[in-house]
Amino acid sequence: MNRDEALLREYYSSSPADITLDDVDVNHLPSHVSIIMDGNGRWAQARGLDRSKGHVAGVDALRETVTTSVRLGLDALSVYAFSTENWRRPQREVDLLMHLFATTLVKELPLFHQENVKLRFLGDLEALPKRTRDVFYQGLDETSDHTGMTFALAVNYGSRAEMVRAARLLAQEVSSGALSADDIDEAAVESRLYTAGLPDPELLIRTSGELRLSNYLLWQLAYTEFYVTDIMWPDFDRWEMLRAIRAFQSRNRRFGGVVNQ
Ligand code: FPP
Repeated sequence: MNRDEALLREYYSSSPADITLDDVDVNHLPSHVSIIMDGNGRWAQARGLDRSKGHVAGVDALRETVTTSVRLGLDALSVYAFSTENWRRPQREVDLLMHLFATTLVKELPLFHQENVKLRFLGDLEALPKRTRDVFYQGLDETSDHTGMTFALAVNYGSRAEMVRAARLLAQEVSSGALSADDIDEAAVESRLYTAGLPDPELLIRTSGELRLSNYLLWQLAYTEFYVTDIMWPDFDRWEMLRAIRAFQSRNRRFGGVVNQ
C-alpha cells in the first residue's frame, strides 16, 4: 500500500516518552488491523458523564484511527461497532448508536473521498433503521471505486450468525445443483462470509482490558496476533496504535509450523 513518508513523519512528530515512529518497522506492518472498540461507557462513567458521551468521544478516536491507518499505509482497518448482542442494550442507547453511525458516516464521507478510503460493512444491515441503512448504502456506493485502504465497519455483526449464513448459502447452492457438496472447502466458506475478499486480520486490538472475542470474526482470527490494552476506546490514539504494532512485530509468527529449524 502507498504511503507518504514525509506526511507520516510529520503525523508522528512530538512523541510521548515511551515510543516513536522509529520503534516500528514501517516496511513490515500488519496489512489488516482489526479492533474491538470497548470501554466507551466506562470512560464516560469515570468522568461522571452519561454513557452516550463515551460513544461520542469514541467517534473522535475512530476518526483518528482511520487517519492513522491511512498514514501508515495499511491495506485494511476493520472495527466492531455493534454486535448482534448489542440490541439488548437500553433502547435509548441503541437509538443513539444508530443515529451516531448515520450522522458520523455522512460527516466523514469527505474524509473517505480525500483519503481514497473504500467502505465495507460486515453484518446484517437489513435489521438496521432505514435512515442508518440508507446512509450506509450511500457510503458504499460513493466509495465503491476508491482504491486506497478498505475500512470495514462491523454493525449488527455476529460471527456465529455469519457462519450460519454461509452454511445456508452453501446448502442452497448444493440443493439447486449449482455446487457439489464435495466442492465445499475453506475457500468456499470464506467467499460466503461478510469478509469475502478481505485478507484475514494480522493484528487484533481490544481496548479496555477485556480478554474475550465476543463473537467477533471467529473464522478470520484463526492465526491473528492479539493485543489487549487497558486504555478505554475514547483514549485510543495514534501512539497506542504504534504500541500495538510494536508488540505485533516483536512476536514470532509460526502459523502452526516451526521457524529456524
Ligand atoms: C464499546 O463501548 C463501544 C460500542 C458498543 C460502540 C462503538 C461505537 C463507537 C465507537 C461510536 C462510533 C462508531 C461509529 C462507527 C460511528 P461500551 O459501550 O461497550 O463500553 P463499556 O464496556 O464501558 O460499557
